[in-house]
Amino acid sequence: MVNLLENPLRVGLQQDRIPEPQILVIFGASGDLTQRKLIPALYQMKLERRLPPELTIVGVARREWSDDYFREQMREGVAEFGGGLGREEIWNDFARGLFYCSGDIDNPDSYQKLKTLLAELDEKRGTRGNRVFYLAVAPRFFAEAIEQLGKAEMMPDPRKQRLVIEKPFGKDLTSAQTLNQVVRRTCNESQVYRIDHYLGKETVQNLMVFRFANAIWEPLWNRQFVDNVQITVAETVGLEGRAGYYETAGALRDMVQNHLMQLFCLTAMEPPSSLDADSIRNEKVKVLQATHLADLEDLSRSAIRGQYANGWMDNHEVPPYRQEEGADPNSTTPTYAAIKFYIDNWRWKGVPFYMRTGKRLAKKVTEIAIEFKEVPFLMFQSAAKQASPNVLVMRIQPNEGISLRFEVKTPGTSLRTRSVDMDFSYDTAFGRANTDAYSRLLVDCMLGDQTLFTRGDEVEASWRILTPLLSVWDAPAPPETIPLYEAGTWGPIEAELLLNKDGRRWRRI
Ligand code: BG6
Repeated sequence: MVNLLENPLRVGLQQDRIPEPQILVIFGASGDLTQRKLIPALYQMKLERRLPPELTIVGVARREWSDDYFREQMREGVAEFGGGLGREEIWNDFARGLFYCSGDIDNPDSYQKLKTLLAELDEKRGTRGNRVFYLAVAPRFFAEAIEQLGKAEMMPDPRKQRLVIEKPFGKDLTSAQTLNQVVRRTCNESQVYRIDHYLGKETVQNLMVFRFANAIWEPLWNRQFVDNVQITVAETVGLEGRAGYYETAGALRDMVQNHLMQLFCLTAMEPPSSLDADSIRNEKVKVLQATHLADLEDLSRSAIRGQYANGWMDNHEVPPYRQEEGADPNSTTPTYAAIKFYIDNWRWKGVPFYMRTGKRLAKKVTEIAIEFKEVPFLMFQSAAKQASPNVLVMRIQPNEGISLRFEVKTPGTSLRTRSVDMDFSYDTAFGRANTDAYSRLLVDCMLGDQTLFTRGDEVEASWRILTPLLSVWDAPAPPETIPLYEAGTWGPIEAELLLNKDGRRWRRI
Protein backbone atom coordinates (compact mmCIF):
# COMPACT_ATOMS: atom_id res chain seq x y z
CA MET A 1 0.00 0.00 0.00
CA VAL A 2 1.14 3.57 -0.63
CA ASN A 3 2.88 5.09 2.34
CA LEU A 4 1.60 8.64 2.26
CA LEU A 5 3.78 9.74 5.13
CA GLU A 6 6.89 8.96 3.15
CA ASN A 7 5.31 10.13 -0.10
CA PRO A 8 3.40 13.29 0.75
CA LEU A 9 0.53 13.91 -1.61
CA ARG A 10 2.07 15.13 -4.80
CA VAL A 11 -1.25 16.56 -5.92
CA GLY A 12 -1.23 18.79 -2.85
CA LEU A 13 2.32 19.91 -3.41
CA GLN A 14 1.70 20.72 -7.06
CA GLN A 15 -1.12 23.01 -6.10
CA ASP A 16 1.15 25.23 -4.04
CA ARG A 17 3.12 26.13 -7.13
CA ILE A 18 2.19 29.03 -9.39
CA PRO A 19 1.84 28.05 -13.04
CA GLU A 20 4.22 29.51 -15.59
CA PRO A 21 3.12 32.57 -17.59
CA GLN A 22 0.78 31.34 -20.30
CA ILE A 23 -2.15 32.03 -22.58
CA LEU A 24 -5.40 30.21 -22.05
CA VAL A 25 -7.36 30.10 -25.29
CA ILE A 26 -11.04 29.32 -24.77
CA PHE A 27 -12.96 28.12 -27.82
CA GLY A 28 -16.65 28.73 -27.19
CA ALA A 29 -15.98 31.96 -25.31
CA SER A 30 -19.47 33.36 -25.83
CA GLY A 31 -21.11 30.30 -24.24
CA ASP A 32 -22.51 29.62 -20.80
CA LEU A 33 -19.64 27.45 -19.62
CA THR A 34 -17.13 30.26 -20.12
CA GLN A 35 -19.20 32.94 -18.46
CA ARG A 36 -20.67 30.87 -15.64
CA LYS A 37 -17.87 28.49 -14.75
CA LEU A 38 -14.47 29.03 -16.36
CA ILE A 39 -13.93 32.75 -15.92
CA PRO A 40 -15.42 32.87 -12.40
CA ALA A 41 -13.19 29.90 -11.47
CA LEU A 42 -10.11 31.59 -12.90
CA TYR A 43 -10.94 34.85 -11.22
CA GLN A 44 -11.28 33.10 -7.89
CA MET A 45 -7.76 31.77 -8.41
CA LYS A 46 -6.63 35.30 -9.21
CA LEU A 47 -8.08 36.51 -5.90
CA GLU A 48 -6.24 33.71 -4.13
CA ARG A 49 -3.01 34.69 -5.94
CA ARG A 50 -2.70 31.30 -7.57
CA LEU A 51 -2.26 32.62 -11.10
CA PRO A 52 0.86 34.03 -12.71
CA PRO A 53 0.49 37.81 -13.19
CA GLU A 54 1.13 37.35 -16.93
CA LEU A 55 -1.83 34.98 -17.37
CA THR A 56 -3.59 35.95 -20.56
CA ILE A 57 -6.99 34.66 -21.66
CA VAL A 58 -8.10 34.76 -25.26
CA GLY A 59 -11.77 34.04 -25.93
CA VAL A 60 -12.60 32.63 -29.35
CA ALA A 61 -16.12 32.43 -30.77
CA ARG A 62 -18.02 33.23 -33.90
CA ARG A 63 -19.70 36.44 -32.70
CA GLU A 64 -18.06 39.75 -33.57
CA TRP A 65 -17.22 40.96 -30.09
CA SER A 66 -14.61 43.53 -29.11
CA ASP A 67 -12.09 42.95 -26.29
CA ASP A 68 -14.02 45.44 -24.20
CA TYR A 69 -17.35 43.76 -24.78
CA PHE A 70 -15.84 40.38 -23.89
CA ARG A 71 -14.40 41.88 -20.69
CA GLU A 72 -17.80 43.30 -19.80
CA GLN A 73 -19.53 39.93 -20.36
CA MET A 74 -16.96 38.16 -18.22
CA ARG A 75 -17.26 40.77 -15.50
CA GLU A 76 -21.00 40.12 -15.38
CA GLY A 77 -20.31 36.38 -15.19
CA VAL A 78 -17.97 36.79 -12.22
CA ALA A 79 -20.39 39.11 -10.44
CA GLU A 80 -23.37 36.85 -10.98
CA PHE A 81 -21.98 33.32 -10.89
CA GLY A 82 -18.65 33.68 -9.09
CA GLY A 83 -17.73 34.66 -5.59
CA GLY A 84 -17.85 38.40 -6.43
CA LEU A 85 -15.39 40.88 -7.89
CA GLY A 86 -13.51 41.87 -4.76
CA ARG A 87 -11.31 44.94 -5.08
CA GLU A 88 -11.80 46.89 -8.30
CA GLU A 89 -8.06 47.07 -9.06
CA ILE A 90 -7.79 43.28 -8.93
CA TRP A 91 -10.57 42.96 -11.50
CA ASN A 92 -8.95 45.64 -13.67
CA ASP A 93 -5.66 43.80 -13.58
CA PHE A 94 -7.38 40.53 -14.51
CA ALA A 95 -9.42 42.20 -17.26
CA ARG A 96 -6.28 43.66 -18.86
CA GLY A 97 -5.30 40.08 -19.63
CA LEU A 98 -8.60 39.28 -21.41
CA PHE A 99 -8.73 39.38 -25.21
CA TYR A 100 -11.23 38.30 -27.80
CA CYS A 101 -10.71 36.86 -31.27
CA SER A 102 -13.71 36.16 -33.47
CA GLY A 103 -13.40 33.11 -35.70
CA ASP A 104 -15.04 30.02 -37.14
CA ILE A 105 -14.12 26.65 -35.81
CA ASP A 106 -13.83 25.16 -39.31
CA ASN A 107 -12.07 28.03 -41.03
CA PRO A 108 -8.26 27.70 -41.34
CA ASP A 109 -7.95 31.51 -41.69
CA SER A 110 -9.38 31.92 -38.20
CA TYR A 111 -6.55 29.80 -36.80
CA GLN A 112 -3.93 31.83 -38.67
CA LYS A 113 -5.46 35.00 -37.25
CA LEU A 114 -5.45 33.47 -33.78
CA LYS A 115 -1.86 32.32 -34.19
CA THR A 116 -0.75 35.84 -35.09
CA LEU A 117 -2.61 37.29 -32.11
CA LEU A 118 -1.04 34.75 -29.75
CA ALA A 119 2.45 35.56 -31.04
CA GLU A 120 1.79 39.28 -30.45
CA LEU A 121 0.51 38.58 -26.95
CA ASP A 122 3.60 36.49 -26.21
CA GLU A 123 5.68 39.59 -26.90
CA LYS A 124 3.42 41.95 -25.07
CA ARG A 125 2.69 39.87 -21.97
CA GLY A 126 5.71 37.59 -21.68
CA THR A 127 3.82 34.31 -22.06
CA ARG A 128 6.70 32.52 -23.83
CA GLY A 129 4.70 30.30 -26.18
CA ASN A 130 2.95 28.47 -23.32
CA ARG A 131 -0.64 27.77 -24.22
CA VAL A 132 -3.68 25.90 -23.01
CA PHE A 133 -6.35 25.39 -25.66
CA TYR A 134 -9.67 24.81 -23.94
CA LEU A 135 -12.48 23.34 -26.05
CA ALA A 136 -15.64 24.67 -24.40
CA VAL A 137 -17.63 24.12 -27.58
CA ALA A 138 -20.38 21.63 -28.45
CA PRO A 139 -18.89 18.11 -28.65
CA ARG A 140 -19.60 17.84 -32.38
CA PHE A 141 -16.90 20.50 -32.96
CA PHE A 142 -14.14 18.80 -30.93
CA ALA A 143 -12.58 16.85 -33.79
CA GLU A 144 -12.68 19.79 -36.19
CA ALA A 145 -11.06 22.16 -33.70
CA ILE A 146 -8.31 19.65 -32.85
CA GLU A 147 -7.57 18.97 -36.50
CA GLN A 148 -7.40 22.65 -37.31
CA LEU A 149 -5.07 23.28 -34.38
CA GLY A 150 -2.89 20.52 -35.76
CA LYS A 151 -2.90 21.84 -39.31
CA ALA A 152 -2.03 25.32 -38.10
CA GLU A 153 0.86 23.76 -36.11
CA MET A 154 -0.30 25.35 -32.93
CA MET A 155 0.59 22.46 -30.61
CA PRO A 156 4.13 21.47 -31.65
CA ASP A 157 5.81 21.31 -28.25
CA PRO A 158 4.49 18.79 -25.66
CA ARG A 159 6.07 20.80 -22.86
CA LYS A 160 4.48 24.08 -23.85
CA GLN A 161 1.04 23.51 -25.33
CA ARG A 162 -1.87 21.66 -23.78
CA LEU A 163 -5.35 20.76 -24.88
CA VAL A 164 -8.41 20.60 -22.61
CA ILE A 165 -11.42 18.69 -23.89
CA GLU A 166 -14.79 19.00 -22.18
CA LYS A 167 -17.13 16.09 -21.71
CA PRO A 168 -18.74 14.10 -23.23
CA PHE A 169 -15.72 12.62 -24.98
CA GLY A 170 -17.47 10.83 -27.84
CA LYS A 171 -21.00 9.51 -27.78
CA ASP A 172 -20.11 5.82 -27.72
CA LEU A 173 -17.06 3.58 -27.94
CA THR A 174 -16.55 4.00 -31.70
CA SER A 175 -16.80 7.78 -31.70
CA ALA A 176 -14.52 8.00 -28.64
CA GLN A 177 -11.95 5.85 -30.46
CA THR A 178 -12.20 8.05 -33.54
CA LEU A 179 -11.79 11.19 -31.46
CA ASN A 180 -8.80 9.67 -29.70
CA GLN A 181 -7.23 8.99 -33.09
CA VAL A 182 -7.72 12.63 -34.08
CA VAL A 183 -6.14 13.67 -30.79
CA ARG A 184 -3.18 11.34 -31.31
CA ARG A 185 -2.56 12.64 -34.82
CA THR A 186 -2.35 16.18 -33.45
CA CYS A 187 -0.55 15.87 -30.16
CA ASN A 188 0.92 13.68 -27.52
CA GLU A 189 -1.29 12.12 -24.78
CA SER A 190 0.82 14.06 -22.27
CA GLN A 191 -0.67 17.26 -23.71
CA VAL A 192 -4.29 16.15 -23.36
CA TYR A 193 -6.56 17.01 -20.45
CA ARG A 194 -9.99 15.36 -20.75
CA ILE A 195 -12.00 17.12 -18.12
CA ASP A 196 -14.50 15.60 -15.75
CA HIS A 197 -15.35 18.22 -13.17
CA TYR A 198 -16.25 15.59 -10.57
CA LEU A 199 -12.55 14.82 -10.23
CA GLY A 200 -11.98 18.42 -9.16
CA LYS A 201 -14.35 18.09 -6.21
CA GLU A 202 -12.61 18.03 -2.86
CA THR A 203 -14.66 15.08 -1.62
CA VAL A 204 -13.85 13.04 -4.73
CA GLN A 205 -10.13 13.64 -4.28
CA ASN A 206 -10.53 12.59 -0.69
CA LEU A 207 -11.70 9.13 -1.73
CA MET A 208 -8.12 8.07 -2.38
CA VAL A 209 -6.81 9.57 0.83
CA PHE A 210 -9.61 8.01 2.82
CA ARG A 211 -8.97 4.60 1.34
CA PHE A 212 -5.19 4.60 1.18
CA ALA A 213 -4.07 6.75 4.10
CA ASN A 214 -6.04 4.74 6.68
CA ALA A 215 -5.11 1.20 7.60
CA ILE A 216 -8.51 0.13 8.90
CA TRP A 217 -10.53 0.11 5.65
CA GLU A 218 -8.37 -1.96 3.38
CA PRO A 219 -9.01 -5.31 5.16
CA LEU A 220 -12.76 -4.71 4.84
CA TRP A 221 -12.79 -3.32 1.31
CA ASN A 222 -13.54 -6.54 -0.55
CA ARG A 223 -16.00 -9.33 -1.31
CA GLN A 224 -15.47 -10.94 2.06
CA PHE A 225 -17.04 -8.05 3.95
CA VAL A 226 -18.88 -5.85 1.46
CA ASP A 227 -22.40 -6.90 0.52
CA ASN A 228 -23.02 -4.23 -2.12
CA VAL A 229 -22.05 -0.72 -3.13
CA GLN A 230 -24.56 1.98 -4.07
CA ILE A 231 -23.53 5.11 -5.92
CA THR A 232 -26.18 7.82 -6.14
CA VAL A 233 -25.99 11.08 -8.06
CA ALA A 234 -29.42 12.64 -7.72
CA GLU A 235 -30.30 16.06 -9.08
CA THR A 236 -33.34 18.26 -8.59
CA VAL A 237 -32.77 20.32 -11.73
CA GLY A 238 -34.54 19.45 -14.96
CA LEU A 239 -33.44 20.14 -18.50
CA GLU A 240 -32.38 23.75 -17.83
CA GLY A 241 -32.85 24.82 -21.45
CA ARG A 242 -30.25 22.33 -22.73
CA ALA A 243 -32.53 20.27 -24.97
CA GLY A 244 -30.22 20.61 -27.98
CA TYR A 245 -27.49 18.75 -26.13
CA TYR A 246 -29.46 16.60 -23.71
CA GLU A 247 -31.84 15.08 -26.24
CA THR A 248 -28.85 13.39 -27.88
CA ALA A 249 -27.11 12.59 -24.60
CA GLY A 250 -29.52 11.42 -21.91
CA ALA A 251 -28.47 10.27 -18.45
CA LEU A 252 -26.03 7.59 -19.65
CA ARG A 253 -23.86 9.96 -21.66
CA ASP A 254 -24.38 13.04 -19.54
CA MET A 255 -23.66 11.51 -16.14
CA VAL A 256 -22.97 7.77 -16.02
CA GLN A 257 -20.14 7.36 -18.52
CA ASN A 258 -18.12 10.10 -16.88
CA HIS A 259 -19.05 11.32 -13.39
CA LEU A 260 -20.49 8.10 -11.98
CA MET A 261 -17.80 5.95 -13.58
CA GLN A 262 -15.13 8.11 -11.96
CA LEU A 263 -16.75 7.69 -8.54
CA PHE A 264 -16.95 3.97 -9.26
CA CYS A 265 -13.27 3.73 -10.23
CA LEU A 266 -12.04 5.56 -7.16
CA THR A 267 -14.13 3.28 -4.96
CA ALA A 268 -13.26 0.00 -6.62
CA MET A 269 -9.73 0.35 -7.98
CA GLU A 270 -6.63 -1.22 -6.44
CA PRO A 271 -4.16 0.98 -4.57
CA PRO A 272 -1.81 2.63 -7.07
CA SER A 273 1.89 2.17 -6.37
CA SER A 274 2.56 5.89 -6.57
CA LEU A 275 0.63 9.09 -6.94
CA ASP A 276 1.75 10.04 -10.39
CA ALA A 277 -0.98 10.51 -12.95
CA ASP A 278 -0.30 7.34 -14.89
CA SER A 279 -0.10 5.01 -11.90
CA ILE A 280 -3.54 6.16 -10.80
CA ARG A 281 -4.99 6.05 -14.27
CA ASN A 282 -3.58 2.57 -14.85
CA GLU A 283 -5.51 1.31 -11.84
CA LYS A 284 -8.70 2.94 -13.11
CA VAL A 285 -8.32 1.33 -16.49
CA LYS A 286 -7.67 -2.07 -14.88
CA VAL A 287 -10.84 -1.98 -12.81
CA LEU A 288 -12.90 -0.76 -15.76
CA GLN A 289 -11.57 -3.59 -17.90
CA ALA A 290 -12.81 -6.07 -15.31
CA THR A 291 -16.28 -4.50 -15.06
CA HIS A 292 -19.43 -5.50 -16.92
CA LEU A 293 -23.18 -5.03 -16.76
CA ALA A 294 -24.65 -7.56 -14.34
CA ASP A 295 -26.58 -9.59 -16.91
CA LEU A 296 -25.57 -9.29 -20.53
CA GLU A 297 -28.16 -11.83 -21.70
CA ASP A 298 -31.09 -9.99 -20.16
CA LEU A 299 -30.31 -6.29 -19.92
CA SER A 300 -33.53 -5.56 -18.06
CA ARG A 301 -31.87 -7.30 -15.10
CA SER A 302 -28.90 -4.94 -15.42
CA ALA A 303 -30.41 -1.52 -15.96
CA ILE A 304 -33.55 0.57 -15.80
CA ARG A 305 -34.16 3.85 -17.54
CA GLY A 306 -36.79 6.45 -16.79
CA GLN A 307 -37.95 9.89 -17.78
CA TYR A 308 -39.50 12.52 -15.55
CA ALA A 309 -43.18 13.29 -15.82
CA ASN A 310 -44.71 16.39 -14.26
CA GLY A 311 -44.68 16.77 -10.51
CA TRP A 312 -43.95 19.17 -7.68
CA MET A 313 -40.58 20.56 -6.69
CA ASP A 314 -40.29 23.13 -3.90
CA ASN A 315 -44.03 23.77 -4.02
CA HIS A 316 -43.96 24.52 -7.74
CA GLU A 317 -45.51 22.35 -10.36
CA VAL A 318 -42.93 21.42 -12.99
CA PRO A 319 -43.65 20.20 -16.53
CA PRO A 320 -42.80 16.73 -17.81
CA TYR A 321 -39.58 16.30 -19.76
CA ARG A 322 -41.47 15.98 -23.02
CA GLN A 323 -42.94 19.45 -22.56
CA GLU A 324 -39.64 21.15 -21.75
CA GLU A 325 -38.57 23.73 -24.28
CA GLY A 326 -36.87 22.06 -27.23
CA ALA A 327 -37.63 18.47 -26.15
CA ASP A 328 -39.37 16.12 -28.57
CA PRO A 329 -42.98 15.57 -27.37
CA ASN A 330 -42.38 11.85 -28.00
CA SER A 331 -38.84 11.84 -26.66
CA THR A 332 -37.47 8.57 -25.31
CA THR A 333 -34.35 10.22 -23.85
CA PRO A 334 -33.70 8.80 -20.39
CA THR A 335 -33.38 11.38 -17.63
CA TYR A 336 -32.88 8.57 -15.11
CA ALA A 337 -30.71 5.47 -15.12
CA ALA A 338 -30.18 2.74 -12.55
CA ILE A 339 -27.53 0.16 -13.39
CA LYS A 340 -26.07 -2.93 -11.78
CA PHE A 341 -22.47 -3.94 -12.48
CA TYR A 342 -20.13 -6.71 -11.48
CA ILE A 343 -16.36 -6.63 -11.35
CA ASP A 344 -14.58 -9.84 -12.23
CA ASN A 345 -11.51 -9.68 -10.07
CA TRP A 346 -10.28 -11.15 -6.81
CA ARG A 347 -11.36 -8.20 -4.72
CA TRP A 348 -14.92 -7.80 -5.97
CA LYS A 349 -16.16 -10.98 -7.67
CA GLY A 350 -19.88 -11.35 -6.93
CA VAL A 351 -20.36 -7.97 -5.21
CA PRO A 352 -23.01 -5.91 -7.01
CA PHE A 353 -22.25 -2.26 -7.65
CA TYR A 354 -25.49 -0.34 -8.12
CA MET A 355 -25.53 3.14 -9.64
CA ARG A 356 -28.41 5.53 -10.06
CA THR A 357 -28.67 9.05 -11.36
CA GLY A 358 -31.54 11.21 -12.45
CA LYS A 359 -32.87 14.68 -12.97
CA ARG A 360 -35.88 16.08 -11.11
CA LEU A 361 -35.40 13.69 -8.22
CA ALA A 362 -36.43 14.40 -4.66
CA LYS A 363 -33.08 15.77 -3.48
CA LYS A 364 -29.75 16.97 -4.80
CA VAL A 365 -27.34 14.48 -3.36
CA THR A 366 -24.25 12.57 -4.41
CA GLU A 367 -22.99 9.76 -2.24
CA ILE A 368 -21.20 6.45 -2.28
CA ALA A 369 -22.50 3.90 0.20
CA ILE A 370 -20.63 0.71 1.07
CA GLU A 371 -23.05 -1.74 2.68
CA PHE A 372 -21.33 -4.40 4.69
CA LYS A 373 -22.51 -7.96 5.17
CA GLU A 374 -24.78 -8.82 8.04
CA VAL A 375 -23.51 -10.54 11.13
CA PRO A 376 -23.68 -14.32 10.72
CA PHE A 377 -25.97 -14.77 13.71
CA LEU A 378 -27.81 -12.13 15.74
CA MET A 379 -28.58 -12.87 19.35
CA PHE A 380 -30.00 -9.46 20.22
CA GLN A 381 -33.45 -8.09 19.74
CA SER A 382 -33.25 -5.29 17.24
CA ALA A 383 -35.60 -2.29 16.89
CA ALA A 384 -36.08 -3.52 13.35
CA LYS A 385 -36.66 -7.22 12.69
CA GLN A 386 -32.99 -7.60 11.92
CA ALA A 387 -29.98 -5.51 12.80
CA SER A 388 -29.28 -3.08 9.96
CA PRO A 389 -26.03 -3.81 8.22
CA ASN A 390 -23.12 -1.47 8.78
CA VAL A 391 -22.94 1.20 6.13
CA LEU A 392 -20.11 3.53 5.30
CA VAL A 393 -21.37 6.58 3.43
CA MET A 394 -19.10 9.02 1.64
CA ARG A 395 -21.14 12.14 1.08
CA ILE A 396 -19.73 13.83 -2.00
CA GLN A 397 -22.20 16.72 -1.95
CA PRO A 398 -23.91 18.55 -0.33
CA ASN A 399 -23.30 18.31 3.43
CA GLU A 400 -19.89 16.88 2.55
CA GLY A 401 -18.58 14.26 4.92
CA ILE A 402 -18.37 10.60 5.83
CA SER A 403 -20.50 8.55 8.18
CA LEU A 404 -20.42 5.05 9.52
CA ARG A 405 -23.62 3.39 10.60
CA PHE A 406 -23.52 0.73 13.32
CA GLU A 407 -25.70 -0.83 15.99
CA VAL A 408 -25.75 0.18 19.64
CA LYS A 409 -27.72 -0.88 22.64
CA THR A 410 -30.60 1.46 23.34
CA PRO A 411 -30.42 2.64 26.96
CA GLY A 412 -32.80 0.82 29.29
CA THR A 413 -33.26 -2.46 31.04
CA SER A 414 -34.13 -4.53 27.99
CA LEU A 415 -31.39 -5.49 25.57
CA ARG A 416 -32.49 -3.81 22.35
CA THR A 417 -30.36 -2.39 19.59
CA ARG A 418 -30.66 0.55 17.25
CA SER A 419 -28.64 1.98 14.35
CA VAL A 420 -26.68 5.18 14.90
CA ASP A 421 -24.20 7.16 12.82
CA MET A 422 -20.67 8.24 13.57
CA ASP A 423 -20.19 11.31 11.47
CA PHE A 424 -17.42 13.43 10.02
CA SER A 425 -18.44 16.69 8.38
CA TYR A 426 -16.13 18.94 6.38
CA ASP A 427 -17.94 21.99 7.67
CA THR A 428 -17.40 21.16 11.30
CA ALA A 429 -13.85 19.93 10.86
CA PHE A 430 -12.52 22.56 8.50
CA GLY A 431 -15.16 25.27 8.53
CA ARG A 432 -14.32 26.56 5.09
CA ALA A 433 -15.75 26.39 1.64
CA ASN A 434 -14.24 23.88 -0.74
CA THR A 435 -12.28 25.06 -3.74
CA ASP A 436 -14.47 25.07 -6.82
CA ALA A 437 -13.84 22.04 -9.01
CA TYR A 438 -13.07 24.07 -12.13
CA SER A 439 -10.58 26.30 -10.29
CA ARG A 440 -8.71 23.27 -9.11
CA LEU A 441 -8.67 21.59 -12.52
CA LEU A 442 -7.68 24.71 -14.45
CA VAL A 443 -4.71 25.32 -12.19
CA ASP A 444 -3.68 21.64 -12.39
CA CYS A 445 -3.76 21.81 -16.16
CA MET A 446 -1.67 24.99 -16.22
CA LEU A 447 0.80 23.20 -13.93
CA GLY A 448 0.91 20.21 -16.26
CA ASP A 449 -0.55 17.78 -13.71
CA GLN A 450 -2.80 15.21 -15.44
CA THR A 451 -3.76 13.27 -12.31
CA LEU A 452 -7.31 14.58 -12.17
CA PHE A 453 -7.97 14.21 -15.90
CA THR A 454 -9.10 11.19 -17.86
CA ARG A 455 -6.73 9.30 -20.14
CA GLY A 456 -7.75 8.15 -23.62
CA ASP A 457 -7.87 4.43 -22.83
CA GLU A 458 -9.82 5.13 -19.65
CA VAL A 459 -12.61 6.87 -21.54
CA GLU A 460 -12.73 4.03 -24.04
CA ALA A 461 -12.86 1.43 -21.26
CA SER A 462 -15.81 3.16 -19.69
CA TRP A 463 -17.70 3.45 -23.00
CA ARG A 464 -17.06 -0.24 -23.62
CA ILE A 465 -18.92 -1.22 -20.45
CA LEU A 466 -21.97 0.79 -21.47
CA THR A 467 -22.03 -0.21 -25.14
CA PRO A 468 -24.61 -3.03 -24.82
CA LEU A 469 -26.94 -0.68 -23.00
CA LEU A 470 -26.43 2.19 -25.40
CA SER A 471 -27.34 0.05 -28.39
CA VAL A 472 -30.64 -0.96 -26.80
CA TRP A 473 -31.53 2.43 -25.32
CA ASP A 474 -30.64 4.29 -28.52
CA ALA A 475 -32.88 2.11 -30.67
CA PRO A 476 -36.14 3.78 -31.68
CA ALA A 477 -38.86 2.82 -29.21
CA PRO A 478 -42.49 3.73 -28.70
CA PRO A 479 -42.63 6.54 -26.10
CA GLU A 480 -44.87 4.48 -23.82
CA THR A 481 -42.10 1.91 -23.32
CA ILE A 482 -40.00 4.35 -21.27
CA PRO A 483 -40.93 4.19 -17.59
CA LEU A 484 -42.01 7.60 -16.31
CA TYR A 485 -41.52 8.91 -12.80
CA GLU A 486 -43.17 11.80 -11.09
CA ALA A 487 -40.84 14.80 -10.73
CA GLY A 488 -39.78 15.23 -7.12
CA THR A 489 -39.71 11.48 -6.36
CA TRP A 490 -36.88 8.95 -6.34
CA GLY A 491 -37.35 7.65 -9.87
CA PRO A 492 -39.35 4.88 -11.53
CA ILE A 493 -40.71 1.99 -9.52
CA GLU A 494 -38.86 -0.39 -11.86
CA ALA A 495 -35.59 0.85 -10.36
CA GLU A 496 -36.74 -0.35 -6.95
CA LEU A 497 -37.49 -3.75 -8.40
CA LEU A 498 -33.96 -4.00 -9.81
CA LEU A 499 -32.68 -4.23 -6.25
CA ASN A 500 -35.71 -5.97 -4.73
CA LYS A 501 -35.03 -8.94 -7.02
CA ASP A 502 -31.68 -9.27 -5.25
CA GLY A 503 -33.32 -8.99 -1.83
CA ARG A 504 -31.95 -5.45 -1.40
CA ARG A 505 -33.24 -1.92 -1.66
CA TRP A 506 -31.92 1.50 -2.49
CA ARG A 507 -30.87 3.54 0.45
CA ARG A 508 -33.42 6.09 1.60
CA ILE A 509 -31.46 9.30 1.62
C1 BG6 B 1 -22.74 18.13 -15.82
C2 BG6 B 1 -23.97 17.64 -16.54
O1 BG6 B 1 -21.60 17.50 -16.30
O2 BG6 B 1 -22.88 17.86 -14.43
C3 BG6 B 1 -25.22 18.28 -15.98
O3 BG6 B 1 -23.86 17.94 -17.92
C4 BG6 B 1 -25.29 18.07 -14.48
O4 BG6 B 1 -26.39 17.75 -16.59
C5 BG6 B 1 -23.99 18.50 -13.82
O5 BG6 B 1 -26.37 18.84 -13.98
C6 BG6 B 1 -23.98 18.11 -12.35
O6 BG6 B 1 -22.85 18.65 -11.75
P1 BG6 B 1 -22.82 18.95 -10.19
O7 BG6 B 1 -21.43 19.40 -9.93
O8 BG6 B 1 -23.86 20.00 -9.94
O9 BG6 B 1 -23.17 17.67 -9.51
